[in-house]
Amino acid sequence: MRTWQLLATWVALFLDICQSKTIVQELNISRTASASGKQLISLNGEVSSLGPTIRVQAGDTLNLLVNNDICEKKDLQLYGDDYCNTSIHFHGLVLENVAGGILGALSDGVPGVTQRSIPPQMSYWYNFTVPASLEGGTYWFHSHSSVQYGDGLRGIFLVDSPTRDEYLGRVVAKLDADGTSGGLLHDLPAEPSSKLIHEEIMAVSDWYSRSSVDILKDVMSPTGGPDPRVEGSTVNGDQGSVNFGIGEDTEYVALRVINVGMSGTNVLHVEGHRLCVVETDGVLTKPYMIDTLSIAVGQRFTLLIKVDRDTARARMVHGCGKMMGYVSKTHWLTRPGTDAGEPFDGSFGDLPGLDKSEKYRDFVPRDGELLPAPSQQISLDYAYQSELMKEYNTGMYAVNGDTMPEFLPDGLGVLLEGARGVRDPIQLHSGQVVEIAINSIDHMTHPWHMHGHTFQVISVGHRNDGPLYFDDPGSAAMRRYLEDVSAWEGNVPMARDTINIPGSSYAVIRFNASNPGFWLLHCHVEWHMAKGLGVILAEGDAHVNAVANAFTRTQGIDKVEDAKASTEVSSTEVAGQPPAKDSKLKVLLVYLFIMCVFNAGVWYCFFARNAKTKPIYR
Ligand SMILES: *[C@@H]1O[C@H](CO)[C@@H](O)[C@H](O)[C@H]1NC(C)=O
Ligand SMILES: *[C@@H]1O[C@H](CO)[C@@H](O)[C@H](O)[C@H]1NC(C)=O
Ligand SMILES: *[C@@H]1O[C@H](CO)[C@@H](O)[C@H](O)[C@H]1NC(C)=O
Ligand SMILES: *[C@@H]1O[C@H](CO)[C@@H](O)[C@H](O)[C@H]1NC(C)=O
Repeated sequence: MRTWQLLATWVALFLDICQSKTIVQELNISRTASASGKQLISLNGEVSSLGPTIRVQAGDTLNLLVNNDICEKKDLQLYGDDYCNTSIHFHGLVLENVAGGILGALSDGVPGVTQRSIPPQMSYWYNFTVPASLEGGTYWFHSHSSVQYGDGLRGIFLVDSPTRDEYLGRVVAKLDADGTSGGLLHDLPAEPSSKLIHEEIMAVSDWYSRSSVDILKDVMSPTGGPDPRVEGSTVNGDQGSVNFGIGEDTEYVALRVINVGMSGTNVLHVEGHRLCVVETDGVLTKPYMIDTLSIAVGQRFTLLIKVDRDTARARMVHGCGKMMGYVSKTHWLTRPGTDAGEPFDGSFGDLPGLDKSEKYRDFVPRDGELLPAPSQQISLDYAYQSELMKEYNTGMYAVNGDTMPEFLPDGLGVLLEGARGVRDPIQLHSGQVVEIAINSIDHMTHPWHMHGHTFQVISVGHRNDGPLYFDDPGSAAMRRYLEDVSAWEGNVPMARDTINIPGSSYAVIRFNASNPGFWLLHCHVEWHMAKGLGVILAEGDAHVNAVANAFTRTQGIDKVEDAKASTEVSSTEVAGQPPAKDSKLKVLLVYLFIMCVFNAGVWYCFFARNAKTKPIYR
């Protein structure tokens, strides 16, 4: 049996290899201004939209050349290198460290943690393989330097996979057969529907009349509070009402909703329609029907919406959270020849099923298992501390009494190997299951995002339930946590990489600390990142040499001679790599297998592959 398993693995691997490709793309980052004089960052010369969408197949390799032209020499004095330097983080993508190969950690894009900042007038390659094991999902990319993403340095990153296409097809078959009532949909048909699915991206964000870099000056001043006033909202970069045109006979829409904002949870309701949640942050979920969706900063969802053939248009009610209430917008799904109608003028509080708490008991993964009980449990308490004024000349956030000066000038936050000690990372038990209770000692809701992992959401308190300390069994938080833990026996909790934590409450996340590297766990409100709201976790014996990918000046990818040039890897040590100790006979057998599979693979690549068709989106 084992021989057959080995053979099957090799065949599967080969089919993967022959289908995956290397995609070479370029991102020119420049500074520009809006008609009203607001300073912005353009990507490949565009500011009108959300920048280029990078779309790959799971298993593909991306070589992304980033050219930093935000500042010229003369601007450097005006803005400082904390604004002129840049970096790109691929939000939610868990990039693996391949032994002797490409290091995923080097492409995580956190200056001072996983790489050095890209200086002005320099280029940097983000070369990585999107793991073939990904189910296909919705991600985004953005600068992790200063507050650049608010000024435009952000875009969409989509990963396709046959698994996702087939799964969405099966959910459509289910909705087709049984309609859209109820909550969790059970017993999906084995065969996917052949109906076409119309796909749309809906990237939502808050909006300000001034540039983020200007706002940051206020936020970081002695009198600056952590939350500037939200003045508006956008969808796909557009401040107006957006019309999503669907086909004459479209019946199913897959809406990929992404909160690419700086602050503010968004809500979405499509009048007369129910929303079927099938993805949370790159994880396919059991289909769950809701009426109104709540989306924290950094989160992504895919919603399947069934649109009746006789529906000419559907009104989409969109609220972007601000300090008090919402910025209200109306968008539309319309068939050809149909115009938008009257805007929504109702109250958000009356939207059916509006629930801004995390639905971690409902949006559960399609498959997978609950991680076993943790070997390490940590509590992190975070709070705004005006006492830090003395040291930083502005109020800062602290986690367990310590602030993360990531964006402060003079590279104070630099944690490159050799510069440790400025702020020690929190060491996790390598290769073991870890649980972290993130405690809000603060009355606001904050969206927390983790790098390097997709976590399981074990428990989230209601407002005023927290904090949670694992050695305090009597607390309200601990009672809720224990209730959740027992409920997970035989079940799987929601899995994702970003989660809203209610004020004066807690969230407990669980993951396997099996990805060597330094990973940020932080609040994704851009202004709060600047005010130090995060921690750095260390996993494995990860000596990440952050200058492995050198800076160059390589504009124009057409000038890159050999796109397949072997990637140079640093003298990085990654813990826990099993040494290969095969006997000569085994090596010979494996060699024979490879040759055998190689031939089969070549045949497959040249003949079978061309017969396959890709799913069509329209
Ligand atoms: C800007 O980038 C350069 C080169 O990586 C680095 O030496 C400098 O410290 C960076 N400055 C800031 C503020 O991050
Ligand atoms: C956690 O990861 C380590 C290293 O990859 C692995 O050996 C271990 O089995 C994993 N544990 C669980 C519970 O999945
Ligand atoms: C980026 O800029 C270089 C130099 O101006 C140009 O050759 C290249 O075509 C640009 N790439 C994109 C994708 O716009
Ligand atoms: C990244 O890929 C490009 C194009 O394929 C190649 O020229 C470059 O050397 C690679 N760089 C690294 C650091 O892997």
